Amino acid sequence: GRANVVIPVAVHYQRLRGSIDVQCLRDQAQNQIDILNADYGGTNSDISEWNNNASSFFPGVSNGQAAITFELANINHPSGYGLVDGDPAVTINATRGDSDRNWAGYLNIFVRNIQYLGYSPLGGDGDGDGVVIDDEAFGSGSGCGDVTPGYPYDLGRTLTHELGHYLLLDHIWGGGCGSDDGVGDTPDSSGPYYSGETTFCPELGVASCGSTDMHMNYMDYVYDACMYMFSAGQATRMENYVASSLAVLVN
Ligand code: ARG
Ligand code: ZN
Ligand code: CA
Repeated sequence: GRANVVIPVAVHYQRLRGSIDVQCLRDQAQNQIDILNADYGGTNSDISEWNNNASSFFPGVSNGQAAITFELANINHPSGYGLVDGDPAVTINATRGDSDRNWAGYLNIFVRNIQYLGYSPLGGDGDGDGVVIDDEAFGSGSGCGDVTPGYPYDLGRTLTHELGHYLLLDHIWGGGCGSDDGVGDTPDSSGPYYSGETTFCPELGVASCGSTDMHMNYMDYVYDACMYMFSAGQATRMENYVASSLAVLVN
């Protein structure tokens, strides 16, 4: 596979109203980045669910181990945000909206209260854009004031999913049967799976479009605890996108 690349991340907390504990918010940003690195590298503890239970339903498919590492940036901040070299790239009530050109060259995470879990461009540009994520779906653990993860989206996987979009992954069902997601090793499926319909996580082995559905994939719609893998093909697609279109982030 490809050589590993390191993507510098900046986290922007926006419109916080409750009490603000700067150290807690910095720790929460690092917590979320640790989750990303586990999930993208395939070192998440629940990859055992794939290895022990799910993989036998998908002969020939391996879980993804993307050669991509996310790092909370701590040098060369744009000026004017109250940060000095050595501070992590975490701003509090300093940016507005879904992009900021002053933060071009960083993968930006905009954390604020929104009406859904998160959203992202399909294929980001690294020119100050980024991913928007709800303040109750960022990271795991007990959180800090407004930024407190809420069950069942409290394992940091909303950002795992949204960054998949940023790195050019579609939802696993694409446009439904006969309309693929552009990834060879993810089976066709008719639409999203949701948790809690008959069981907490959808059952293993359920099928649509004539093949078993990979609803434990990060690019489906199940609860955080029910998703635990990218496929090898998805990992390669993301690595290729970084190499072809996000050189601005990694050089
Ligand atoms: N619905 C959102 C999207 O399509 C995110 C879903 C995230 N799921 C999760 N278990 N955190 O982008
Ligand atoms: Zn999505
Ligand atoms: Ca596919």
